[in-house]
Formats: sequence, C-alpha cells, structure tokens
Amino acid sequence: MNIIEIITKKKNKLELSYEEIKYAVEGYVNNTIKDYQMSALLMAIVINGMTDNEIYNLTEIMLNSGDKIDLSLINGIKVDKHSTGGIGDKTTLVVAPLVAACGVPVAKMSGRGLGFTGGTIDKLESIKGFNTNVDMNNFIKQVNDIGVALVSQTGNLVPADKKIYALRDVTGTTESIPLIASSIMSKKLASGADKIVLDVKVGKGAFMKNIDDAKKLSEIMIKIGKRFGKQVIALITNMDYPIGKTIGNGLEVREAINTLKGKGEERFTKLCLVIATYMVSLGKNISVDEALDLVTEKLNNKEGYNKFLELVKYQGGNVLDIDICKNKYEIISDKEGYLVDIDSISLAEFANNLGAGRKTKNDVINYGVGIILNKKVNDRIKKNEILGYVVSNNFVDTTKLMDAFTIKNTNIDEINMIYEVIK
Ligand code: URA
Repeated sequence: MNIIEIITKKKNKLELSYEEIKYAVEGYVNNTIKDYQMSALLMAIVINGMTDNEIYNLTEIMLNSGDKIDLSLINGIKVDKHSTGGIGDKTTLVVAPLVAACGVPVAKMSGRGLGFTGGTIDKLESIKGFNTNVDMNNFIKQVNDIGVALVSQTGNLVPADKKIYALRDVTGTTESIPLIASSIMSKKLASGADKIVLDVKVGKGAFMKNIDDAKKLSEIMIKIGKRFGKQVIALITNMDYPIGKTIGNGLEVREAINTLKGKGEERFTKLCLVIATYMVSLGKNISVDEALDLVTEKLNNKEGYNKFLELVKYQGGNVLDIDICKNKYEIISDKEGYLVDIDSISLAEFANNLGAGRKTKNDVINYGVGIILNKKVNDRIKKNEILGYVVSNNFVDTTKLMDAFTIKNTNIDEINMIYEVIK
C-alpha cells in the first residue's frame, strides 16, 4: 500500500478501505506521510466526499489514535454538548451549570478557539485564577462533588484530529461534511459521555451555509453515534448573526452570567434553554416538555447561576475579577432605518485583530477586548444612534466597523433561532 495510490483512488471517486484510511491517518500522525500528501488526500475528500462506511472507519481510526476518557465513576447519565462553531457562542457557559442544576452531570472537555470561532476554555480563562487544566481524577471528583466541570482537553485526546484539523485550517479543507462529522464525533466519543446533544450551526457565520447541508451533517453524526452505541440529538440552529450581544472572552463570560441571572438577550436565552432542555431530557429520560419546565425553573430560581458560581469557585476562579478592558469606543450609525444584518465574520475578524482570538496556535489572547452590540437585527435605528461598542484599553477607530451593519428601510422576518431537531 502507498499513499499515492490512496490519493489517486479518492481522486477517482473510489471507496477507500479501512486499511487504506488507517494507513493514511496513522502515517500522518507518525510523520511518515507528509503534510502535502495529507493535504492532497483531504482535498480529494472535500471534492469527492466519502461513503457512510468510509466516514465510520475514519471516525473509528481517529478515535483510536489517542486516549479515551472513562466517565463510569461518575454517577448518572452523562450528557455532553458540542457546537459546530459559532461567533459569540458562549452557550456552554450557560447550559452546563443549568443542566447540572437539574441533576444531570456535565463532565465537559472543551477546546480553545482557532480561526474566527471562539473557544470555551479561552473564555473561562478570562476569569482570574480559573484553572482549566484539571487532571482526570480531580475532573471526576469535581463532577461527583458539584455535578459539573469544564476543563480543557487532555493532551492526547484524538491526536489524529488535532494534527489533521490544524492542516485543514490552512489548506481550505475545513468545509466538508465527512471531515467535520468524523472530527467532531471522534472527539465526542473519546470524551466518554453516554449521550450527546449537537448544536449544528447554519448560516453566514457557520461552516454549513444551508439547511440541507446542516441536515446531512446532523444525520451522519447521529448515525455515527448509533454505530458506537451513543444516542445523539442534533439541533440545527441559526448562525446568520452573532450569538448574543458580545464577542470577546471576558465580555462573553459577563454576558453568560447575566443570562444565568435571567437578564440575557432574548434570542440567546432561548437558544440556551432549548439546548439545556434536550440535554436534560436525555439525561433524566423525561419528555422534552417536562425538561423545559425544569430548566426554566432552574433559570428563574437562579439555581443555574448559583451552580456557575460553585463551578468557578471549585476551579479556583474569582467571579468578581473578569478581564474586561476599561474603555468603550462607540460604533455610531450614519443612517436611519431597520438593522437588517450584522456581519458576524467581520465583527469576529475585527475582535480577533484586537487580540480576542488567535491567528496561529501560539498567539497570546487579550481576554479583555471585544465588541458589545447595542442593537439587534430588526431594531429600528436612528441616525447617530449607538449600534455597539468596541472594548479596548487602547484607542480604536470604529468607523470601519459600520460596514458590518446593514440598515434598510424595511425590516426582515422574525428570526428563528432553532430550525430543526433531528433525532
Ligand atoms: N469542529 C470540529 O471539532 N471539527 C470540525 O471539523 C469542525 C468544527
């Protein structure tokens, strides 16, 4: 067997065998297959796709490339969640404590941001003292003690995905259903939860640009879950606009806290409630309606908020000391009308240029910078009104950001946050 034959086979739209996929993935992890060879194979997969069997095999081979977490010492049904990547996506910070407050253990390993999407671990590290590097024994002890832990992935969780994902990021091979499905599901299966809720984002700021593709991605991930004995539910959700009203690590933590206090932006609160509801329904084996009542109660009576405080304290953080820069620079509207679009990718790029995210793996994050939206899509806007703020310690010229806001004479249809639930 050799890699050129394997690349050629995929180029010719033929199905790769288990052994061929294993040869390519393991060879790449062991450095016998070079970046340029793996890039060629990935591009052939992006263009010609993979059969379901190839996707199952790729997932299994990646899953077997590293450690598998054993959560059996944690009592109860463990339910994990995963988002395919969003801008301003701080749902985990709200959902994890809410679900834990309902009595469903959440043992969650999260990642850091790369490219335009943020990572939960970076957000949490904007809380002074918050320790995300927790070893396995303490991780399990924490979930048994307080019902929730949010930690960074261990060094050796699906190393094949780590290496391949970094290559995909710089070779234009991220947007592929087989590659995304196997990347996400290998990590979810390795993380050890019993059941999984997937938040599959669709829209202008997501990998999946249309609902049909988001459905295909959801369906294959559910099938992979079944194959490995895990129940998976996928929610197809709106990523046309930034999620919530902030982008930037410290700002997003503060927004998550306000949401848990019941003072969150309406669409974002709804998204969190729905994700938490499906997790609780799976974790407690109760109906979706019963789960929604329970989750709503835990939001309203602040038990979710108190669980967040408990989580931060347990992991060494000081919730009163969140890194947020002191100065706010206004983004002023030069027109009047209805705000019909907010370009999430432009805002994310702007925030990343200020230091909110990384362009390369070794960049150092500035946790305090970011953007606050003062208006949401469909709001009526007056000339010279404040659309939002850039938050930074140093002066920022915000005029260029005006292009990210589209103002027209008529408004658009009401925005739907949840398009479909796929089981
Ligand atoms: N998130 C992942 O973990 N992998 C992908 O390929 C895309 C989004």
